[in-house]
This record gives sequence, C-alpha cells and structure tokens, in this order.
Amino acid sequence: MRVKILRRQSPGTAPYWESFEYDGPKNNSIAGLLDYLNYHDDIVDIEGKRTTRIGWECSCLQGICGACALVINGKPSLACETFVRDIKEKEIEIRPLQKFMTIHDLVVDRSSIHENLKQTNVFIGEYQPSADDDHAHQYAASKCLKCGLCLEVCPNYVIGKTFFGAAFANDCYLAASRNKSKAEMIGTIYADHFGKYCSKSLSCMDVCPMKIPTLASMAKLNRR
Ligand code: FES
Repeated sequence: MRVKILRRQSPGTAPYWESFEYDGPKNNSIAGLLDYLNYHDDIVDIEGKRTTRIGWECSCLQGICGACALVINGKPSLACETFVRDIKEKEIEIRPLQKFMTIHDLVVDRSSIHENLKQTNVFIGEYQPSADDDHAHQYAASKCLKCGLCLEVCPNYVIGKTFFGAAFANDCYLAASRNKSKAEMIGTIYADHFGKYCSKSLSCMDVCPMKIPTLASMAKLNRR
C-alpha cells in the first residue's frame, strides 16, 4: 500500500510530501504502520531513496493519551485507533493537525490548549458540589484527552484568537459544576472565550475519540 506523508523538517521550513511502500500487516493501526516504516536502519521512500525517520508522537497506544492525533485520509483521528484494514482508499495520506504549529513532520505544538486553561484559571481546585452536580455528565466531560481533534475540525477555532473551542468548554463545565465558588467567574470566562463565538457546527462531537457530549456541557453552562 502506498503511504503519503506530509513532512517538514522544522517550524518555518517548507512542508513536502514523501511516499512510502507499506507491506506490513493489515491489522496494524496507523501508529503501528508508522513504527513499521521507521523500524529499519535504512529508511527509504517509495523510489528506494534514503530518507530520515518519520517524526510522530505517541504514548499510550490505546486511545487514552491523545498524543497521536493526526489527519488520516482527510479525517482527524487518533493514529492508534485507526486501522489499515478499515481504510477503503488505495492510498493512505497522513498529515499533521493543521490548526497547530508543526514542530517536526507529524508532531505539532498543542500547548495552547493547556495555556488557555492556565491563563483563565479554569481548573477545579477545591471540590464544592453545586446545585446541578451531575456526576454522569461530569464523568463524560472529564474524558477529554486534549488531543486537539475537536479544534482541527472547528470552523471557528484559530490559534491565538479569543475563541478557545470545545475542549475548553468541557473544562469550563467541569470546573463550574465541581466548585460552586468559581461558577460565576467561569460563567463569564466561558461566555467570553466560547459562548459568544460558537456557531454550533458541532463537528467537534463528530470527531471526538471519547464521544464527549459537548452540546450538553454547552446547554448546562448556557442555562447558568
Ligand atoms: S498513543 Fe495515546 S491516544 Fe494514541
């Protein structure tokens, strides 16, 4: 199978496509495929030309750390949860998330997701249950991996701008519902960095690997 990868040596350098031949197991995930391509002393492209190892990120390899978020055949997905056997196209195209700065090949800088939370003080702190202490939804919202897939598909998210996206909205809901003394402050922050700008495409919910019902977080915060 032909695998086409969008590479870039370092931030600020021009990206370029490089193709590889994959003859490994169909049961491999895309994470396994990248490992397979890298697992040689001499890495060669599809024409047999020597090249460098493909840079990409992973940690858990079981869909719980979010590090391997990539765009695979046009769909933002986790590489460790996407399998070669399920890809219908003849070619596999892999590119890094486009909404973030590329550091090297498929590795991007997603620190803005955490920086936005730090900058606005959106964290739970002391547990003080509030009136709508909905444990089932809190558990769902707490599954966010901060992988960035929701931001990749969001038509309104641009890094460095005022709108912080779905991952932020879910954390606002968690912090406001678990710490009632912060709820009012977080309500204002949520409005300024999410509520006023979300156009409800809800594409974030289509790609979320943890299937977080962000619409319910929004409804609960909007009601406040
Ligand atoms: S490596 Fe952790 S989610 Fe894929």
